[in-house]
Amino acid sequence: MNDVDNTLMEPVAVASLIIEASKHVNKTWQELAELASGWLIIHGLETQVSKQDLASLAACMMFTGKPEAPDAGDRDSFFEFIGIKRKPREDLGAGVSVEIDGCKGTLRYRLAKDIFDTTLHIPIPTIEWAEQAPHSVPQINPFYEVTSTFHDVLTAMAMGFRSWLFGHTGTGKTAAIREICARCGLPLVRINFDSEMTRADLVGKTELLNDGGTTVSRFIEGVLPRALPHVGVVLLDELDFIRPDLAYVMQAVLEGDELVLTGDNGRCVPVHPQCWIVAAANTCGQGDDVGLYRGAREQSAAFLNRFQTFIEFEYMEWAKEAALLERETRLPMHLCEKLCLYAKEHREAFSRREVLTPFSYRQLATMANRLMFLSRHSGEPPKDGMMDAMELVILNAMPAYERVKMAGIAQRLSI
Ligand SMILES: Nc1ncnc2c1ncn2[C@@H]1O[C@H](COP(=O)(O)OP(=O)(O)OP(=O)(O)O)[C@@H](O)[C@H]1O
Ligand SMILES: [Mg+2]
Repeated sequence: MNDVDNTLMEPVAVASLIIEASKHVNKTWQELAELASGWLIIHGLETQVSKQDLASLAACMMFTGKPEAPDAGDRDSFFEFIGIKRKPREDLGAGVSVEIDGCKGTLRYRLAKDIFDTTLHIPIPTIEWAEQAPHSVPQINPFYEVTSTFHDVLTAMAMGFRSWLFGHTGTGKTAAIREICARCGLPLVRINFDSEMTRADLVGKTELLNDGGTTVSRFIEGVLPRALPHVGVVLLDELDFIRPDLAYVMQAVLEGDELVLTGDNGRCVPVHPQCWIVAAANTCGQGDDVGLYRGAREQSAAFLNRFQTFIEFEYMEWAKEAALLERETRLPMHLCEKLCLYAKEHREAFSRREVLTPFSYRQLATMANRLMFLSRHSGEPPKDGMMDAMELVILNAMPAYERVKMAGIAQRLSI
């Protein structure tokens, strides 16, 4: 019997959930287990409870045919059935050892409020590394600004929900995932679904090798079978560009099932219970309705249906953005405010489709860094180069008719 801390878990809630799921008899046991494991993840329990156990539990519930939450006796026999023994609270987060790329660490649940600038009281998986973290764990951004959207992402991560983050370019989708990984010590595997991505890159391919005169075949794993069996975050970046044949490959994985490598004699690659799969894209998978993201495809309903949450990112509010810009680049606040007010007007024009060139924090930071660099070396105040920076970073990148309009706005703001 496994020792599991379940003082955070509300047993009735878990059992009820499984009963609820069991009402949908057209679901497979794996789907029921997936649903139940989502709950268990919230309560920091899933490391000791396998999906198989949960599937058995769900099946057991289904055949007893009880429509309501089980009584205490039933619950105890359930927990006995799946091998859970209650453990006192002080053992919460004792952790399990992990080793990734030769680095040793301890995987344990901690509360989000103890890691991020937030009041969220939810347990999330973290790894504390004994010495050095593996290279796949990103660096912390000390200037990262926690937003309400970030809360939604953290909650989705705590629940292990496969999530689709979407929003205009530079709204902070990738930054949010990087920051979660950096602060939680989790390895990040980023898979870019650009037009170059092939099935062989994703799943793997068989290669013929010359072994002492005889030809032997060897299966070379793609990025998915290398990433999925490990704790961490798999970011499917620009997933709205995915081709239908690759989307099909992803579907089983997005259901939480094992990845079957047909090219390697049907070998099954399990998905680690703490491997969180998250997608980022400019569109929500329904095609490009603004005409800005050429190549973004309309994805099939079946594919999108496998995502449990869709989280929309928006540009930061201008005053917050100005404070961030000042903290990060040290450009004087009154200049940061001017740039961010310009950004605000630019984005408003963008949302009215009067300009089709997006404008993000990336450009703001580039302008501010340029101004500070020149000012440091010339001794002149950074204000002097504002319009030059504006031209080089944004205005020159726009079609002529947009440039005239936006240069007018920059002048009005006395940039
Ligand atoms: N909350 C935040 N706090 C601090 N910096 C942020 C925040 N959100 C975004 N940024 C910064 O804004 C820039 C753009 O963010 P990011 O690359 O994450 O955008 P994106 O939504 O992934 O864009 P794309 O769709 O082009 O991939 C980065 O430099 C990032 O560090
Ligand atoms: Mg990105």
